[in-house]
Amino acid sequence: MVVAVDGYSSTGKSTVAKLVAAKLGLMYIDTGAMYRAVTLKALREGAIDEGGRIDEEKVRELLKGMEIAFRVDGRDGRYETLLNGEPVEDEIRSMRVAESVSGIAALGFVREFLVEQQRELGRKGDVIMDGRDIGSVVFPDADVKFFMTATLQVRTERRYRELKAKGMEVGFEEVEENVKKRDYIDSHREVSPLVQVPDAVVVDNSCMTIEEEVDFMVKIIETKKGNGLRNEGGN
Ligand code: DC
Repeated sequence: MVVAVDGYSSTGKSTVAKLVAAKLGLMYIDTGAMYRAVTLKALREGAIDEGGRIDEEKVRELLKGMEIAFRVDGRDGRYETLLNGEPVEDEIRSMRVAESVSGIAALGFVREFLVEQQRELGRKGDVIMDGRDIGSVVFPDADVKFFMTATLQVRTERRYRELKAKGMEVGFEEVEENVKKRDYIDSHREVSPLVQVPDAVVVDNSCMTIEEEVDFMVKIIETKKGNGLRNEGGN
């Protein structure tokens, strides 16, 4: 079974997808973390300069030796992204990475490289995958597709609180600008832009609690499962 969760930045996709995964016994895959890991590597190796310009050839070279994997800690359930075996979960969430990731995600060869890995992960078992192009490109035949959205104000507040809780020094307006800019680039890039596919169930969580959201999504998945789990182009 493949459940696709797409949508704008900071709509809480990963939070709910993890909870739905735990309830239904699915494997959760955070594809944004994969784009972030490539960005981190590019920053570390000097493939992105101070002005944010990307040396595409250098990134292409870097992909050759890059392995991205996920691990869930058996004790605390913490989800960890591994870059060539190194835990990088906190580092990939930094503002430095957030500022450059949309540019990296707009490169066709980076997308090809990661989409192939995402499809491979999906072939291994039942998954819930979150990102921007899961229902449109990675798994156009996904059994259930969700499209998450919320107002800019709500999304900025969530992201701001998250960064502050991690002890990062950020201003509200800086975070708002970053969220807005990422949405713009993600929706307007040439390769696999963020789109709301017609067969996705739209979830506007501006005024929903996480529990309400998870219950809603679980119900939809179970209903589709009861109906034979085929996405037939309608809700
Ligand atoms: O979901 P996130 O904020 O961690 O994603 C980081 C960036 O990666 C975001 O700017 C969009 C991009 N992305 C993408 O282009 N395609 C995906 N499937 C997932 C993320």
